[in-house]
Amino acid sequence: MHASSSQPPEVSEIGEVSGTGRTVRTVDVLVIGGGIIGLVTAWRSAQLGLRTAVADPAPGGGAAQVAAGMLAAVTELHYGEQDLLAINLASARRYPAFAAELAEASGQEIGYRACGTLAVALDADDRAHLRELHELQQRSGLDSQWLSGRECRRLEPMLAPGVRGGVRVDGDHQADPRRLARALLTACERAGVVFHRAEARRLLVEADRATGAELADGSRVRADRTVLAAGSHSARLAGVPPHVVPPVRPVKGQVLRLRVPGPYAPFLSRTVRAVVRGGPVYLVPRENGELVLGATTEELGWDTTVTAGGVYELLRDAHELVPGITELPLVETRAGLRPGSPDNAPLLGPTALPGLLAATGHHRNGVLLTPFTGDVMGRVLAGEALPEAARPFSPQRFPARAAHQEQPA
Ligand code: GLY
Repeated sequence: MHASSSQPPEVSEIGEVSGTGRTVRTVDVLVIGGGIIGLVTAWRSAQLGLRTAVADPAPGGGAAQVAAGMLAAVTELHYGEQDLLAINLASARRYPAFAAELAEASGQEIGYRACGTLAVALDADDRAHLRELHELQQRSGLDSQWLSGRECRRLEPMLAPGVRGGVRVDGDHQADPRRLARALLTACERAGVVFHRAEARRLLVEADRATGAELADGSRVRADRTVLAAGSHSARLAGVPPHVVPPVRPVKGQVLRLRVPGPYAPFLSRTVRAVVRGGPVYLVPRENGELVLGATTEELGWDTTVTAGGVYELLRDAHELVPGITELPLVETRAGLRPGSPDNAPLLGPTALPGLLAATGHHRNGVLLTPFTGDVMGRVLAGEALPEAARPFSPQRFPARAAHQEQPA
């Protein structure tokens, strides 16, 4: 067990050695999982003055190391997800203030860039699909504008000549998830969060109440409240009663990183995306010249292999969209696991087990929903009821039997 070197442990937790020789530490809040969702929860918890610990062998890692960081509330709109749209929009609106607050707390920028997004169509099928998305956006009162192919190319001259039309969404921006994770880690350390660099192995439950966790190094962290925020691994923690296990599964995404050689001649000025042969492809240009190209969506359990087929399909589809990408250096290929849930929406707040809360299942929207999740978890940890906007996302919305059955093997 290692505490963060930047914060004396005695400030934030009480430690003792039990009769069995195990180290037992006591905190107010233990967060299981140190990805961006766990970190934002821990940061808000520590800001409340609660003694807060995070258990994770590599805090700041996880899906954020792979994600592109699109804040795509409008361009990733789907039928039947009106409640999710509401919190996605709320979180997108929170981003500028959240980024400023985090920069102040950590001394680091998170690459928030108000660049907008252009979704384009390459053939008649894609165009019909995009028209439907645009109509859904209009019916939902969202700000989006239909453009001809020529208008799309005027905005983004690197687009293929065959682009048949597009939807311009000036409110869908981006942040850099790796910088976001680093900044949250620093903000947590500065706020006094203690990091246990070990995996949580078992939830401790006494008298029908969660009381912390046993870690892989054999130590125990006792906590008044325990937050399950382990992303796609959230259903794997031993000791969680079956009816409380969150129905979260891994959804693989392969992502490539290219580099636009500096000084960065304009290549793309905004996020460009399309559905090509039924699969989404997107290109997210950063100010530092990084160009993130994603992403596959694969139901393959815990597999994180980067495959020749995945890379081929991403490059093939992106090349149809923006032919010039084949000239760029390919600097990284990586796969990550989205924490998918049965309704593609997160699980936020108290579970059916007293003392156990969840902040997981963010699926495609983890980066986008980081500010909202921090706000909600902070209010719940402060003793308030689950805020109105988060009530549709209570972990208790899934029937217990389904939650048990849908656990990954
Ligand atoms: N939100 C983008 C993705 O999950 O691929």
